[in-house]
Amino acid sequence: MSFLKKDYPWIQLPLITCAPMLFAATGELAAAVSAAGGIGFIGIGFKEEDLETQLSQATRHFQTTHKDVKMATTSPEVLPVGVGFLNWGANLDAALPAIKKHVPAAVWLFGVAKETMISVYGSWITRVREVTGGCTKVWVQVGSVADALHMTVDMKDSNSVPDVLVLQGVDAGGHGLKHGAGIITLMPEVRDTLASKGFPDIPLIAAGGISDGRGVAASLCLGADGICMGTRFLACSQTAITQGYRNEILRASDGGRSTVRSTVYDRVRGYVEWPEEYDGRGVTNQSYFDEQKGMEDEENRKLYEAEKQKGDAGWGVGGRMTTYAGTGVGLVKTVESAEEIVRKTREEAKKIIKCD
Ligand SMILES: Cc1cc2nc3c(=O)[nH]c(=O)nc-3n(C[C@H](O)[C@H](O)[C@H](O)COP(=O)(O)O)c2cc1C
Repeated sequence: MSFLKKDYPWIQLPLITCAPMLFAATGELAAAVSAAGGIGFIGIGFKEEDLETQLSQATRHFQTTHKDVKMATTSPEVLPVGVGFLNWGANLDAALPAIKKHVPAAVWLFGVAKETMISVYGSWITRVREVTGGCTKVWVQVGSVADALHMTVDMKDSNSVPDVLVLQGVDAGGHGLKHGAGIITLMPEVRDTLASKGFPDIPLIAAGGISDGRGVAASLCLGADGICMGTRFLACSQTAITQGYRNEILRASDGGRSTVRSTVYDRVRGYVEWPEEYDGRGVTNQSYFDEQKGMEDEENRKLYEAEKQKGDAGWGVGGRMTTYAGTGVGLVKTVESAEEIVRKTREEAKKIIKCD
């Protein structure tokens, strides 16, 4: 695990990262996660126009809220947060100026169709490394053994193997592969397969269904070098979601039953550009139940638009507002600060597994 400390000297082990959740993970949240010894990722998705604002916000938080925390980085220019893109929609040329200016410690790529992974991720990896002199490391989130192999073995010749792979199991909240495995089999199989193909040391981060220190400890046992949580951070005071969304996260339990993988949440909101192999996991709601009963998309979309007018009341039993969340949602019971979540989860894991 020493590689992690080399590239991200401020972190404490075991490494806990916050997922780059579009609209929810802001510069404020990312800075707080990193200041607590994790790595916070800003969720930019396909909204490069927000990149400058969010990176500036993170910078400001290090100068104010976290000014007493020593954030050791590999070079003084590096900003100790990451930033995540959804590459089916993100524009590389539009993103590069802010990346060059702020030099985030990591850029996270996700969400393209298998057949364009090499060309799209390859271009991002090469250009991001060029403009930051290699100071910004590139993470790619994948959801299968085949995609992990594709990102390593097949990227080797073009010198664009990612610095880190995030392995996303199907329990994950938000978007991911429609068909995949849970992290308990995905992580060790990827680890073994990559080792057999000449990549024994590529850092692997576990994601999907991890909500507390037990999940962190289990992931380390499976071969992970660190973990990523999204759903847990939805119940965080610095996360930019509505009270209705947060209430629904706190209400939902038994996540294997109360959440479902579906494309209906994208269709009612008009986000139809996701590649075919992806859907998204969210808490079941009326849009989903009506679709199951045969409601056409047009009618479902109209009802969703009307529901938006209800504000926070649009979430909850009988509601239609989307609540992306993973199967670990039932373990999320209280709202805490990002610092509390990172420290508490890390300490819980350390108690289970000796880690230094
Ligand atoms: C509300 C929400 C939004 C998400 N948005 C993104 C995103 O914009 N980009 C991305 O790469 N992953 C996104 N994800 C998926 C995460 O990267 C990660 O795989 C997932 O949160 C891990 O599973 P967990 O939610 O069970 O912790 C999102 C997840 C959630 C819950």
